[in-house]
Amino acid sequence: MLYITTKYLKPGMILAKDLYLYSSSNFSSLMLVKGQVLNNTYINRIKYHKFDGVYIENEAFSDIDVESYISDKLKTKALKEIRDTYYEFQIGSGKITPYMIKQMSSIVKNIVTELLYKDDLAYNVIDFKNYDSYTFQHCLNVAILSISTGISLGLSEYKLNEIGLAAILHDIGKMLIPLEILNKPGKLTEEEFEIIKTHPVNAMNQLKNLVSPAVLRAIEDHHEKIDGTGYPNGKENSNINPYAKILAISDVYDALTSDRPYRKAVFPNEVVEYLMGCADKHFDYEILNHFIKIIVAYPIGTFVRLSNKQLAVVVKNYSENISRPLVRTINKDGTVGEDLDLLHDKEYMNVTILDMGYDYENCSVTNTLIASK
Ligand SMILES: [Fe+2]
Repeated sequence: MLYITTKYLKPGMILAKDLYLYSSSNFSSLMLVKGQVLNNTYINRIKYHKFDGVYIENEAFSDIDVESYISDKLKTKALKEIRDTYYEFQIGSGKITPYMIKQMSSIVKNIVTELLYKDDLAYNVIDFKNYDSYTFQHCLNVAILSISTGISLGLSEYKLNEIGLAAILHDIGKMLIPLEILNKPGKLTEEEFEIIKTHPVNAMNQLKNLVSPAVLRAIEDHHEKIDGTGYPNGKENSNINPYAKILAISDVYDALTSDRPYRKAVFPNEVVEYLMGCADKHFDYEILNHFIKIIVAYPIGTFVRLSNKQLAVVVKNYSENISRPLVRTINKDGTVGEDLDLLHDKEYMNVTILDMGYDYENCSVTNTLIASK
């Protein structure tokens, strides 16, 4: 399968994965099923719901299979329950019940179980969030990324459950902040930023006695930075809760790879560069090295441009070096070229990936030719 941006979808293309619509009003909506041949009506529906792209079947790339990171059933259930808990918290002006915590813990337990049984933790996810369900999808992704990092670090199941719970609840305090500030398209004033900074403490105050002290500290410290420039307390390295150090990395990764009202999503390869640049300043170096093993710089099924001027599609990633995947080139006439293993094949050591793009100019030609094979 190939990841094709909505702009380049054409009637006749075949959907390679079920397409779910996650919105705050309806969480269990299966919009289109795998195998569906797209026509103009379906393409318009995909555009209407603001999907940036979908996976399309393609003979030349039939060996590329992008698995869901957790099962669709669990994802739908998790998003619905996170949404309910966050809204109840908002409606009750910060009240949270032991029942709600029990619900969240049970979701986390299911996620931990699914991830522990996964052979490959590579996070090959292009996750464009629906605007109105951003917070819930973000919390779920932070939980998934943090638990996966915990698995890579060799943490116990007990600790994985604690990290997951802290991740799911980490931004609940934002529900008490006015939406005009949270979604403000421009730069925040100092006053507005002070309000944003209250969210870890808001959450901590309400969750006291309901979660373990470690979970509480993780939520409180998720915006602290190793060099002491974070908030709310400006804690330095050894004083920051260890779970919070994991949450901080997952939080920034997921936020930057998402479209926000004030900026477009950043490509995963650029986010990896950014994170590495912040090692030992904002983020813990060792934890970051484990995090880098579970994410990918170039998600499979997406287009990259090589230093030899060729366009290629990412076929396989290697956790040993996420910047040098196996790619399949595409010739100028839209036919498929050869596989280049940028990590293992000495012949291609001098070939580098210049950049990635979900919709290069020349993809419009390429997509038509490849997809109509
Ligand atoms: Fe936060």
